[in-house]
Amino acid sequence: MKRKYAFTGIITVSFILLFSMVCAAQPLADPPQQREIKITARRFEFSPKTITVRKGERVRLVVTSEDVDHGFALKEFDIDQEIKAKQTKVIEFTPNREGRFQFSCSVFCGDGHNDMAGELIVTEAPIEAASTMKVSFDQTTPGVVIVESAGERLRIDTGKKTVERIADAEPVKPRSSSREQAPAVAAKERESSKAYEPYDYHIVNIPTPKQVRRHSLNLFFTHRFQETITPLENEKADQHIARISKDLLGLDSSSVSSFGLTYGITGRLYVSVYRSPLCQPGLCKTIELGLGYHLLDEARRSPIALSAYASVEGDDNFTERYTYNLQAMIGRSVTKYVNLFFSPAAHINSNGSDRFKEFLTNQPLAARLRLGQNSGSFGFGMNARIRPTTSLLFEYTPRVGFKMGQITPIFDTNIGQITGFKNKSEAEIAFGIEKRIGRHVFSLTFSNTQGTTTARYNSSNQALPPNKFSVGFNLFRRLL
Ligand code: CUA
Repeated sequence: MKRKYAFTGIITVSFILLFSMVCAAQPLADPPQQREIKITARRFEFSPKTITVRKGERVRLVVTSEDVDHGFALKEFDIDQEIKAKQTKVIEFTPNREGRFQFSCSVFCGDGHNDMAGELIVTEAPIEAASTMKVSFDQTTPGVVIVESAGERLRIDTGKKTVERIADAEPVKPRSSSREQAPAVAAKERESSKAYEPYDYHIVNIPTPKQVRRHSLNLFFTHRFQETITPLENEKADQHIARISKDLLGLDSSSVSSFGLTYGITGRLYVSVYRSPLCQPGLCKTIELGLGYHLLDEARRSPIALSAYASVEGDDNFTERYTYNLQAMIGRSVTKYVNLFFSPAAHINSNGSDRFKEFLTNQPLAARLRLGQNSGSFGFGMNARIRPTTSLLFEYTPRVGFKMGQITPIFDTNIGQITGFKNKSEAEIAFGIEKRIGRHVFSLTFSNTQGTTTARYNSSNQALPPNKFSVGFNLFRRLL
């Protein structure tokens, strides 16, 4: 008798197994069970990196960022969602194609952003059905079998010959609250995180569209030495070495040290003050007051980064001879390592009341020298990252209209007289190397100008040919 029961039991279980396999492969009446997959996003990886789902299966991705803002993009299925810092986003979709598809982070999150990716594998066959099917016997009730497959649990009573679906043993905890979770904490977290920044506020002199953080106070210091690093030129090698070593590559020569402060009023609007002690005919002790607005950001998936800036420069500590600047700062990353910049600007009244000729008022011949009153400049720049915190810098600023330079007399040796005056000026060229250490950015610079205010950086005040550069450095520090 016992044997007969056992035999019936085996038959029944076999039938059930077969039945549930068919069930798993092709659910009959009920809609397919949703597949929930939890993914963690952190700089700079997704975990798990590979997710496997079945074609036609409803997939529910629960993506949580552990640190900063990230994105989750899966192009083939039209998915591109932002996952805010410390928050969770639910992404639902039904893969309708088999294959391997790459998903990646779509919100710029730092140095390794471009490497932050994973793979979605969509399979046709119910690969996991057999391996995940679990059969257990109810210990308390004889003749009761529990079959688990593809997220479904069936309770089969062989005695009563009933099949019933039972609820999930481990219901997935709702995470809806975490979506709105503590935005204050998240914001604070973002502030303190040393988020990687692809470039600084300036290349050498040209400003970039980098966003000024809300309520941040930033210090910018520039130093430009007077003497140039000249190549061996009309002097003997030992003389050259003697001269160079005497003043330490120009480091001992007289220099221009300017500094400024920038304050972020909101995340987009900022004010700045900057003072340059440069003093020469037509220009002295300039203070520049500016207002900037950050419009577009590549991190927010705009094709370019864009800021606009307006400022007034006044000489003699903002008491006279004002110049008005309007400037746009445009930036774009062209590769993972290279950012290009374009910064056109209008400098209104940059030679107002012909002030760069004032020192020649009792020279009648100077009247013939026309300098113009306003300038326009077109700054082109590049930041090329060679190490995670080190970049090479290059910039070039051609300009139109008034060009600051050196006014020199034209002397005719035949008649032994001054026959007129000319303005020698070169478009700004600068290069350098930038190093970031936490909240500091240090750049060693080589430029053919000592002017660093918006209206003046475009012209070489020393009228140096572009192959002669003076050493300098920029120092940036976020104070608050
Ligand atoms: Cu994470 Cu970009």
